Amino acid sequence: MKISIAELSLPKSGAVAVAVFADKTLSVSAKALDKQTGGALTKAMNNGRFTGAKGQIVGINAPAGTKASRIVLFGLGKADEIKVLGLQAAGGKLVGQLNTSGEKQATILVDATRGKLGKISADDAAAEIAFGARLAAYRFDKYRTTEKADKKPTLKSVTVGVKGAAAAKKAWAVKSRIADGVVVTRDLVSEPGNVLYPASFAAEARKLSKLGVKIEVMGASRLAKLGMNALLGVAAGSQHEAHVVVMQWNGAPASAKQKPLAIVGKGVTFDSGGISLKPGAGMGDMKWDMGGAGVVVGLMTALAGRKAKANVVGVIGLVENMPSGTAQKPGDVVKSMSGQTIEIDNTDAEGRLVLADALWYTQKRFKPSAMIDLATLTGAIIMSLGHVHAGLFASDDDLANNIFKAGQDEDELVWRLPLHQEYDNNISSDIADVKNTGREGGGSITAAQFLKRFTNDVPWAHLDIAGMTWSTKPKPTVPKGGTGFGVRLLDRMISDNYEV
Ligand code: BES
Ligand code: MN
Ligand code: ZN
Repeated sequence: MKISIAELSLPKSGAVAVAVFADKTLSVSAKALDKQTGGALTKAMNNGRFTGAKGQIVGINAPAGTKASRIVLFGLGKADEIKVLGLQAAGGKLVGQLNTSGEKQATILVDATRGKLGKISADDAAAEIAFGARLAAYRFDKYRTTEKADKKPTLKSVTVGVKGAAAAKKAWAVKSRIADGVVVTRDLVSEPGNVLYPASFAAEARKLSKLGVKIEVMGASRLAKLGMNALLGVAAGSQHEAHVVVMQWNGAPASAKQKPLAIVGKGVTFDSGGISLKPGAGMGDMKWDMGGAGVVVGLMTALAGRKAKANVVGVIGLVENMPSGTAQKPGDVVKSMSGQTIEIDNTDAEGRLVLADALWYTQKRFKPSAMIDLATLTGAIIMSLGHVHAGLFASDDDLANNIFKAGQDEDELVWRLPLHQEYDNNISSDIADVKNTGREGGGSITAAQFLKRFTNDVPWAHLDIAGMTWSTKPKPTVPKGGTGFGVRLLDRMISDNYEV
């Protein structure tokens, strides 16, 4: 589906969507259409429940008096209370509805008063509606070969019409790059494990060099030389070689001498559990156990795409966790790059082993101002927070607060959980410096405590996104499947706090 911004005018064909505010208050274009159609819009409102409340939508088929094939009214509620997220949802809902309607082309009209829609500038409003439309239109359908035409989405193009389209186009140029990042992450997360394994994932990350991101890919021999035995141990049972990819986006002016912010991702391209094999039911979900790494690649896509003025380094640890004669076993002890020895209590607690070496490597090489890792780390976080908030853990309150705030603004919610020495005590080992599981509850917290031991006291935050990476319940701008959760959150966090 193509999305574009154009100067506002009533279209001569296709579907046309117009805004209605609270209490059936028609926007200027809605009024014009109501007149043209002999009051069809007023009639539709009076015959149904539609009042213009936020989130409402109603369609009028083949109305007389206009060349448009369909009119859709979308409610925005009280003009003064319109928010960016509401506009995105409106764009998303319109696309969701029109995609099953048979319409090929749609025009969404943004009527501003004195350059504003409520408190939001008309150009931003148009860009936000376009953003919502793009995110809603996402589908991962490359492996469907027999889908019937009447099941396929019908929209080929959406035009957002607004007065002063040039400014709106500029705003959309930025927003569309962020959407590109979300799409990259959703695609990576959706790919099955036979297609996306460490080497093929690294090849996808390499494509970022087209956007000006510096890419380095390290294979197993290099990782062994660096001493990353915790990460390599996870890959020991797999036919696929482990990789670590480093991505550098240096968007801050050299004069700013900005230390990089580091983003580190868990990239387990399939997590069978290893010798501590998972039960069969639902194991296929573990193709998306690379969700953290997927966010890092999507985020770098967004930052480089919109030329963010910040220095950000992304590091992803890519492995496949499989059982075999060469796999690591419960009871094994490995020596991590940090020098700390780890007793492997459970080979299914593998994400923290990957991150232990990735975090240590990152702080050692880049001396970042802060590190944020993302990982589908624990099933326990789904017990705690369900699929509404990601778990946030942090050694630094400012960093935690910045992430929390960005989450609210982007509707990618996070909730902070505690770190405490007493949880850390639960992962001390009788034979090594640390063990990879705690057995006294608080599984997401002990996992975070484990990671903290490999941060070398660099300000650090950890996002446990196990409940957020994949969705089975569609939302207006997040279809079922890979959500891309984390890209918008961190892009916002960076634009609010790190760009110079
Ligand atoms: N990748 C899983 C966590 C997970 C579970 C992500 C469900 C998404 C949905 C992780 O590697 C894992 O297996 N964690 C174990 C840890 C346990 C062995 C201490 C878990 O959560 O059960
Ligand atoms: Mn696991
Ligand atoms: Zn895992």
